[in-house]
Amino acid sequence: MSEEAIERVTVLGAGTMGHGIAQICAVAGYEVVMRDVAQAALDKGIAGITKSLDKFVSKERLSADQRASALSRIKTTESLEDAVRDADLVVEAIPERMSLKLETFRAVDAHAPAHALLATNTSSLSVTEIAGATGRPAQVVGLHFFNPVPIMKLLEIVRGLRCDDATIERAKAFASSVGKEPIVVNDWPGFATSRLGIILGCEAIRMVEQGVASPADIDKAMELGYRHPMGPLKLTDLVGLDVRLAIMEHLYAELGDQFRPPTLLRQMVRAGKLGRKSGEGFYTY
Ligand SMILES: NC(=O)c1ccc[n+]([C@@H]2O[C@H](COP(=O)([O-])OP(=O)(O)OC[C@H]3O[C@@H](n4cnc5c(N)ncnc54)[C@H](O)[C@@H]3O)[C@@H](O)[C@H]2O)c1
Repeated sequence: MSEEAIERVTVLGAGTMGHGIAQICAVAGYEVVMRDVAQAALDKGIAGITKSLDKFVSKERLSADQRASALSRIKTTESLEDAVRDADLVVEAIPERMSLKLETFRAVDAHAPAHALLATNTSSLSVTEIAGATGRPAQVVGLHFFNPVPIMKLLEIVRGLRCDDATIERAKAFASSVGKEPIVVNDWPGFATSRLGIILGCEAIRMVEQGVASPADIDKAMELGYRHPMGPLKLTDLVGLDVRLAIMEHLYAELGDQFRPPTLLRQMVRAGKLGRKSGEGFYTY
C-alpha cells in the first residue's frame, strides 16, 4: 500500500515556503491542496504563486497554458480534515515550533489515508520526534526545501530513526518529479545544510566581534576566495538575525559549544537589528 503513486499533494501553511512548495507541485502536474489557518494567508499565498508564475512566463521558462493549468490545480482550504482526506503526500510548512508541529502531525495522522507519506519542511527540529506524534513513523520524512523554492535546486531529505527505505525511495522520486536534486541525510540536529551554514555564519559574526575585518570584507573573502554566491553576513541579514539566533540556540543546546551564539548577535537582536526585514543588520538597507 505504501507504494501507491503520488498524485495529490497537500501543503500545510501558505507562507514563504508553503506557497512555493504548492507552486512547484502544481507546475509538476500534481493536484494540490494548500491549507492555512486564515483565508488572508491563503489569498497572500495564491498572490505570491501567481506573481512567481508570471515571472516564469515573462522569462519564457513557462508557457501561458502551463501557468493557467498550474493555477487551476491548486485548491485552498482552512479545514485540515478536508485538506488531507485524499492526500498521497502531505508536506508541512507551518512555523518552526515543535509543539505546533506535534499537534499538527497528530491531527494529520488521524485524517490522512493510511498510505499517505507525511513530510515536514523543518529546518532544524527533530524529524524523529515529529514522526513519533503519528502512528506511522516509517512513513514520515523530512523534505527540507530552500528559499525561494521555485529557484533553489536542493532538496534535503531527512531520514528519521524509524523511517523506512520505501519512504526514502518515494521521497527521492518525488524530488526528481518536481525538478529538485535530492541529498539524503540522517536525522541529526541541523542536518547537513543548516549545521554547516550556521557554523559559517556564527564564526563570521565572531570575527566581526573580534575586529578581524569589516562585514563587507569578510563576505568578500568567501565570495571571491571560496566562490560562495553570497557571503555569510549578507546571508544572515537575508534570513533574519532573530531566525539565525533561534537556530543557533537550538544547535548549541543539542551539539555544544561551537554553536554558542556570539554576544554581538544577541545584542543586535535586542536592538531590533534583524537584517533586511528591519532595514538594518550587518548592512543598512
Ligand atoms: N523561510 C525559510 O527560508 C525557510 C527555509 C527552509 C525551511 N523553512 C521552514 O519552513 C517552515 C515554514 O517556514 P516559513 O518561513 O514558510 O514560515 P511563514 O511564517 O512564512 O509561514 C507559515 C505559515 O503557516 C501558517 N500556519 C500557522 N499554523 C498553521 C497550521 N496549524 N496549519 C497550517 N498553517 C499554519 C501561518 O499562518 C503562515 O502562513 C518552518 O518549519 C521553517 O523552519 C523555512
